[in-house]
Order: sequence, then structure tokens, then C-alpha cells
Amino acid sequence: MKVGVIGAGTMGSGIAQTFAQTEGYEVVLCDINAEFAARGKAKIAKGFERMIAKGKMDQATVDAVLAKITTGTKDICGDCDLIIEAALENMEIKKQTFKELDGICKPEAIFATNTSSLSITEIGAGLNRPVIGMHFFNPVPVMKLVEVIAGLN
Ligand SMILES: NC(=O)c1ccc[n+]([C@@H]2O[C@H](COP(=O)([O-])OP(=O)(O)OC[C@H]3O[C@@H](n4cnc5c(N)ncnc54)[C@H](O)[C@@H]3O)[C@@H](O)[C@H]2O)c1
Repeated sequence: MKVGVIGAGTMGSGIAQTFAQTEGYEVVLCDINAEFAARGKAKIAKGFERMIAKGKMDQATVDAVLAKITTGTKDICGDCDLIIEAALENMEIKKQTFKELDGICKPEAIFATNTSSLSITEIGAGLNRPVIGMHFFNPVPVMKLVEVIAGLN
């Protein structure tokens, strides 16, 4: 399964790391430009370096996980099966992001937002598919909990 993560900040990079560490998932980590997205992946790599130093991971595993994360902008999400949006907590940004993704992603791709406080229904209004809430907790690789929230649509 291919997961597109939109926003490579604190939450997006944690979500990307967690899926990449799970068997059967590939990740496309996106931000407003390729440089920001690559920075998110570099942050994940830095965390892994600390794990290697503590003897909790080996280099081969780290290399394999990092190889499962591609970075770029949302234009490369066309073949993703699941989109998790973790961009800024701003209604207009989220609405615009999903509107653009609606035209980029395949029709069966599932749309999810990591919003903490905005209306799931409003975020998904006017799209050709529903949007769900998929609320991860910080730090994502540590917190074994995700809230899944249905909007009215
Ligand atoms: N930080 C938390 O503890 C936490 C917990 C649960 C949910 N959330 C939610 O997760 C989302 C992200 O929070 P965060 O703390 O990771 O923020 P952050 O500021 O660390 O990261 C946001 C990222 O989104 C990028 N971005 C902004 N506009 C974008 C766009 N149009 N397209 C793609 N990328 C864009 C930014 O460049 C940045 O890299 C928010 O909705 C927030 O409410 C945060």
C-alpha cells in the first residue's frame, strides 16, 4: 500500500516514519516544495542515527526503511492508496490541498486529515469523495494510538 503524507513537519515526518517502518507500506512524503519535503526525511534519518548509536537499530534496517520514503510535492501522489494530510492547522490550506489532490489522486484513494480541531465535514465539502479524520499523536512513532473520525459525508 502506498501512503501519501502531505506536510513534512513534526507530525508528517512521524507519520511517514511509522508507515515506512511497517511491512507492506511505501510512503510519499510531500511539502510545499521538494526541499522542505527532503528536510522532513532528513529529520527521520537523524532520529535513526540516534537509534543506531544506542544499538536499537542497525544500518541495514535504517537504509531499507529510508528507501521506502520518496519525497516531493503532492503532484507525485497519483498512485497513492491513502492520503494523510498533516499540513498547517488552517482551514483554507487544508481545503485547497484536498481540492488539488482530488484531481491528482486515483478515485479510490482514501483521504484523511490529521487536524486536531477543524471540522472534518468542512474540510471535505465539495470533493468527489469523503474525508476522514485520522488523528495521530506526538511523537507518532511512539504513540500507539490514532483516532479515526467520520465527517457527515
Ligand atoms: N504537533 C502536534 O502535537 C499535533 C498533534 C496532532 C495533530 N496535529 C495536527 O497535525 C497538523 C500538522 O502539525 P505539525 O505540528 O506537524 O505542524 P508543522 O508546522 O511541524 O508542519 C507543517 C508542515 O506542513 C507544511 N505545509 C504548509 N502548507 C502546506 C501545503 N499547502 N502543502 C503541503 N505542506 C504544507 C509546512 O511547510 C510544514 O513542513 C496540524 O493540522 C496539527 O493541528 C499536530
